[in-house]
Amino acid sequence: MALFGFLKKDVPTADMSRLQTDIHSHFIPGIDDGAKTITDSLELIMAMESLGYSKLITTPHVMSDSYKNTPEIILDGLHKVKEALDRAGAKIQLDAAAEYYLDFEFENKIKQRNVLTFGGDKKYLLWELPFVNPPDNLNETVFHMQTQGYKPVLAHVERYSFWHRDYSKYEELANRGILLQMNINSLTGHYSNETRKAAHWLIDNDMISFLGSDCHHLGHIKLLEQALTDKYLIKALASGKILNPTL
Ligand SMILES: [Fe+2]
Repeated sequence: MALFGFLKKDVPTADMSRLQTDIHSHFIPGIDDGAKTITDSLELIMAMESLGYSKLITTPHVMSDSYKNTPEIILDGLHKVKEALDRAGAKIQLDAAAEYYLDFEFENKIKQRNVLTFGGDKKYLLWELPFVNPPDNLNETVFHMQTQGYKPVLAHVERYSFWHRDYSKYEELANRGILLQMNINSLTGHYSNETRKAAHWLIDNDMISFLGSDCHHLGHIKLLEQALTDKYLIKALASGKILNPTL
């Protein structure tokens, strides 16, 4: 497989096995905008293994109006993908949490503790914001997560354009105890140049606690391959600031 065929000798390459675990992806088929079939799931998961990951915590979208996924739906899908991986003889470990959209139902899910989380004691809760405007109830929602004992992990923090003109907001988030997750593919410029600049600032200021692939399809795998030689990815991995998501 020519996965790393484009890499030149003498070019420093990020050691993805240092991360070991990816905490953000969409590999359960047919329940969000990620893998469509079980064949897609296996192809993507095997490609992640080739990149150096030994464990994936896949995180289907949960949105009230489009992806009405419950823990039961996600865990049932996880079971099916794991069976297929076993049949294929794959070694990589697979687990599931979810990526919760901050909408009108999220508060209830938190209060009822009806959420899928990750980490050794399941304390990390991955959530995302609308891309248009920061929601008015952001601080309140964070407070509710924390009072329920969760550690909020804000998905792809560098992608929200409403903070691109004021990076001090990132410090405010961190000061509230929000852990910041960055998409590795933001370093390639895939989302926008402004997103890449924000990602650079966040790494330069040691603000990132989790790196994620947010992989939905093979196009994202190709971008991850490109990112392997990115000096900011190498810097982030060497910083000692990235948390071990299995603890
Ligand atoms: Fe995602």
